[in-house]
Amino acid sequence: MASTGSTPFPKWQLAILLGAPLAIGLGYLYLRNRLEDPEKKKIAELKAKTTISLDNEDNNAKASENALDRAMKLKGAGNRAFHAGEYDKAISLYNEAIEACPPNRSEDLATFYQNRSACYEKRDMWEQVKEDCTYALKLNEKYVKAFLRRSRAAEKSGDLVLALEDVTSACILEKFQVQSSLVNADRILKALGRQHAREALAKRRPVMPSKHFIKTYFSAFSEDPITKILLDDKGTGGFAKAKQALDAQDYDSIVDACTEELNTKGKYTNEALLLRATFYLLLGRHEEAQADLAKVIDSDATVKVKVNSLIKRASLYTQLENTERCLEDFARASQLDPNNSDIYHHRGQVYLLLERMDEATAEFAKAVELNPDFSIAYIQKCYADYRHAQINKNAGALTQVRADFEKALERFPKCSEAYILFGQVLSDQQEWSRVESLFDSALSIDPSNATLYVHKGLVQLQKNTDFEKAVKLINKAIEMDDKCDFAYETLGTIEVQRGNLRRSLELFEKAIALAKTELEMTHLFSLKDAAAAQLKVSERWGLDWTVS
Ligand SMILES: *[C@@H]1O[C@H](CO)[C@@H](O)[C@H](O)[C@H]1NC(C)=O
Ligand SMILES: *[C@@H]1O[C@H](CO)[C@@H](O)[C@H](O)[C@H]1NC(C)=O
Ligand SMILES: *[C@@H]1O[C@H](CO)[C@@H](O)[C@H](O)[C@H]1NC(C)=O
Ligand SMILES: *[C@@H]1O[C@H](CO)[C@@H](O)[C@H](O)[C@H]1NC(C)=O
Repeated sequence: MASTGSTPFPKWQLAILLGAPLAIGLGYLYLRNRLEDPEKKKIAELKAKTTISLDNEDNNAKASENALDRAMKLKGAGNRAFHAGEYDKAISLYNEAIEACPPNRSEDLATFYQNRSACYEKRDMWEQVKEDCTYALKLNEKYVKAFLRRSRAAEKSGDLVLALEDVTSACILEKFQVQSSLVNADRILKALGRQHAREALAKRRPVMPSKHFIKTYFSAFSEDPITKILLDDKGTGGFAKAKQALDAQDYDSIVDACTEELNTKGKYTNEALLLRATFYLLLGRHEEAQADLAKVIDSDATVKVKVNSLIKRASLYTQLENTERCLEDFARASQLDPNNSDIYHHRGQVYLLLERMDEATAEFAKAVELNPDFSIAYIQKCYADYRHAQINKNAGALTQVRADFEKALERFPKCSEAYILFGQVLSDQQEWSRVESLFDSALSIDPSNATLYVHKGLVQLQKNTDFEKAVKLINKAIEMDDKCDFAYETLGTIEVQRGNLRRSLELFEKAIALAKTELEMTHLFSLKDAAAAQLKVSERWGLDWTVS
């Protein structure tokens, strides 16, 4: 599944909505703004604090100067050795420099340690790199280079928490102006988020998603062989029981009923495997799902059953970020059943997620051509066309997209997704009154839908940065549905931007508890980890995060 139950579109859209391509960028918006004014002074003071002026005609002044001179010369020689690739020699020269240096020349000493750590880095000696950077940072707490190098060493040695904290410190000191540091931060966040997601998933008991989620999931397949199958034996075998349970939305008994069909070697073995795999997927039991799907794919199952299994396995590979195998399965599916629109619709979603817009639009076009009445595919095609036009800055195509959306509203007036996605498109064009009326129409179709209030809240934010109104609307969503993960995530992001880091951590926790896929969880942990690192660094330096 490229999308979650409560929202029809992938999570990266939230980042786009809020105008920050990098996860780390989201979190830093607020502090960046603050640094423009009062906090700037604090960082400046912080820098000043570590460069205490040198004065006094002390008796030992002369000797000290000589010692410093000597240390500087040793450092110079060390640098030359370093650049000649003679790292052992450089290390011993820096050792001598450290010994020679007057102990009260903190900043110079910090440099020597930092220089020595560069040699260790060349040698992949990560523990020594970290140790020397730590000395350097004790002597000079605003030392950007030492933060960056210790972050690299920590990342290499698998200490992602320290890596993130250090790169965060560096980003703050650089006032978020250095692109390479932001990119590093983003990469570390992604890895740490994934690590945390896997740990959390391993501990979590599989939870059945809501009925609504499951219904949405099944409705994303127009050629689902399980829902379409007509049984000849009424209600006796395991698979028949499973199918009745499916129709009655009694989802908890389905896995067992399918297992019964398999154990009794019933005639619907492949169907039972596919249905069981589907519920393993929904429960996040990936390995079991993969095993069942593999059996169906290599069996003598009907084409529709095999193709549905291939699409589901492909989506599973997306979640596991194995794009190559994912596309292989789609290719196999389209060979088996070239006229099955589900293949193109789902592959389009994968391309959308990968930001491969040319391919995404082609896939959706094909899905719609094969099945013009499939509203979800039609609307996603419109949206992919829009992203494509936007990326290529093609004004003519944009006009066409608008016309297509208007047509979609006429054709599928009961499909709230059409209003939502068109609303997003018009948000980008800042046509706020139309956007608001679209969301109101969606609400009149689907009045109990909490996520629609989140969208309304986002409009308030984009339209005139009205945090109060946005938060009020999103809180209303939570009141309506306290399992609305989209609401917690959005609110958490807003709180980061407002500087309420502690509150944002609580909200991200709630969203994480409701997350259904590893991909989604990784994304949420990245947001949470970014906020947590900022909180830690700003507490260390006494940066003020309270909201005015
Ligand atoms: C450092 O120590 C030397 C020798 O004791 C002294 O001459 C010098 O003034 C001191 N410098 C600072 C910045 O305290
Ligand atoms: C040592 O530190 C100085 C000052 O930061 C720097 O210019 C030089 O490139 C460093 N040398 C190495 C090998 O890192
Ligand atoms: C797919 O549809 C086209 C056009 O309707 C048809 O000519 C072709 O035979 C179909 N292919 C398969 C494999 O069913
Ligand atoms: C709410 O609306 C969204 C967007 O239109 C839709 O995807 C989702 O299925 C709806 N949720 C419910 C609970 O009806």
